[in-house]
Amino acid sequence: MKKLDGKVAIVSGSGRGIGREIALKLASEGARVVVNDLDADPANETVETIKAAGGEALACVGSVTDADFGNRFVSAAVEGFGGLDIIVNNAGYTWDNVIQKMSDEQWEAILQVHLTAPFRIVRAASEFIRTAAKKEAEAGQEVFRKVVNISSTSGVMGNAGQVNYSAAKAGINGFTKALAKEWGRYKVNVNSVAFALIKTRLTEAAADADASIDIEGKKIKVGVNPQVLKNAESLIPLGRAGTPEEAAGAVYLFCIPESNYISGQVLVCGGGRP
Ligand SMILES: NC(=O)c1ccc[n+]([C@@H]2O[C@H](COP(=O)([O-])OP(=O)(O)OC[C@H]3O[C@@H](n4cnc5c(N)ncnc54)[C@H](O)[C@@H]3O)[C@@H](O)[C@H]2O)c1
Repeated sequence: MKKLDGKVAIVSGSGRGIGREIALKLASEGARVVVNDLDADPANETVETIKAAGGEALACVGSVTDADFGNRFVSAAVEGFGGLDIIVNNAGYTWDNVIQKMSDEQWEAILQVHLTAPFRIVRAASEFIRTAAKKEAEAGQEVFRKVVNISSTSGVMGNAGQVNYSAAKAGINGFTKALAKEWGRYKVNVNSVAFALIKTRLTEAAADADASIDIEGKKIKVGVNPQVLKNAESLIPLGRAGTPEEAAGAVYLFCIPESNYISGQVLVCGGGRP
């Protein structure tokens, strides 16, 4: 018997990086997973990797910022796998600049992907979750469901060059705390995991290399200056950046029955950084 046997999970942005490892981890513990990404190829690759390991997964490709995406994502789980138990809001990217150079477009895009999209996904799930929870309560059962929102230490402490991202990641922590209070009655644990420095496409590429993310036809430069990266790593008590597998481990803790009495919390996964 695996920890997540019988559970259905949706994980946004799970074609790459941390989201991919979260999807693989949940599937390895028995969950059936709806994989999402903006890009079809990496989403399908995650699905095939899960299937090759004996798990069950399906892809729901598209941008979490599309107005109807929440409904599509939730329907993919309910129609494809017959339920919905775990929601992980992970999809996102950074689009940095100092405030005097930050455009309205930059500000709005980052709030959309990190805050508005999770709100719409969870709202789309509310009808299914409330109906299921009421039936379970009438039958005298306590069935716990999980929402895990991905935040950042930028949202907890702030980070220069990231007023948009820091505001969105602080916002998702407020969302987490409010929803934990609303949905306690439905036995839903709502928590955030705030990462510090995890080695993925967002942080790995050297800023002077020509690395960029293609977001809806727009090329957005990513990467961190190697000296900044080195300085950031030197502040981590465990002495290095985390791996996507280690990041997924923190999310997994909030998805298993052992965390059923933990809700409304922000867990920093930062190698000892506050
Ligand atoms: N890497 C870090 O150090 C770090 C630190 C703190 C927080 N985070 C957060 O972790 C999450 C995952 O980041 P990562 O480091 O794994 O980055 P990543 O670029 O490796 O993976 C993110 C995935 O999300 C997808 N995505 C982006 N926008 C999307 C959209 N609109 N709709 C659907 N999919 C979309 C991308 O295509 C990509 O596959 C993000 O929310 C990020 O802000 C990362």
